[in-house]
Amino acid sequence: MKIAILSDIHEGLNHKKTGADIVGLLKESLAQHMPDVFIISGDMTAGPEKSLALLKQLQNELPDLQILFVHGNHDLYHEDSTNAYEKLLEFKGNLGNGPVSLNEEWVVIGDGGWYDYTFGIEGFTEQEFSAGRFNDFTWPDKAYAHWPEDDVTVTNKYLTKLESWLSHHQEKNIILVSHFVPFAHFVQVKKDLSWDFFNAMMGSKEIGKLAEKYGVKKMIFGHIHTRYHEEFKGIDCICNPLGYYPHEWRSNSAQEEINSALKIIEI
Ligand SMILES: [Fe+2]
Ligand SMILES: [Fe+2]
Repeated sequence: MKIAILSDIHEGLNHKKTGADIVGLLKESLAQHMPDVFIISGDMTAGPEKSLALLKQLQNELPDLQILFVHGNHDLYHEDSTNAYEKLLEFKGNLGNGPVSLNEEWVVIGDGGWYDYTFGIEGFTEQEFSAGRFNDFTWPDKAYAHWPEDDVTVTNKYLTKLESWLSHHQEKNIILVSHFVPFAHFVQVKKDLSWDFFNAMMGSKEIGKLAEKYGVKKMIFGHIHTRYHEEFKGIDCICNPLGYYPHEWRSNSAQEEINSALKIIEI
């Protein structure tokens, strides 16, 4: 079984900056590689309505492909992020609806998740991370995502849900998917506070602890726009973002970038 993986497509920004039909090119690339499953680990675009429309479009155009999705922070940009979360559940392949068995052996479990500052550097308080402001930069989620509860409480709710699903599927090989980063190992520390301060918003160590506790075989995530595919703590870890044009792309051609970025694995 072939599984394609991509995150952080950021259709809105990338379309605007390149002029290219990002989803159309993605469809072409998928049609060429012919995977059985396509896992999108968040940040399809900004806002739930647009993300949902793009997911439905892609699924309609490739009816034989099983598209699985978790939201990113950008997909939840809305005046009410709880509402945005629920809106995105309308997409059948949203893993927030529950685990998906691929076959007798493999199951995919996931949800977008959030961050609880467990990757936050020392010297700052929870209040400072919660305000999300360092010097003159404010973390965009503070302006565009609106949860009724604080970040830590929001993250804990995801963790509880994920643990319940994981505990019920231990007999299978598990692929765990989140948008946010599960291990500090993948969070870059640059010794530059204007960067490192925002590591608090990269994810949660607790996701990684769950992955270890339940012996997941593969961990797929996104959010950090750096591509990784390596074994860490015995888990096949894959972070495979498309990222922003131009500074995070390797090619000037959207077609070439999408084609080369799409990761295909076999199980
Ligand atoms: Fe992103
Ligand atoms: Fe993100």
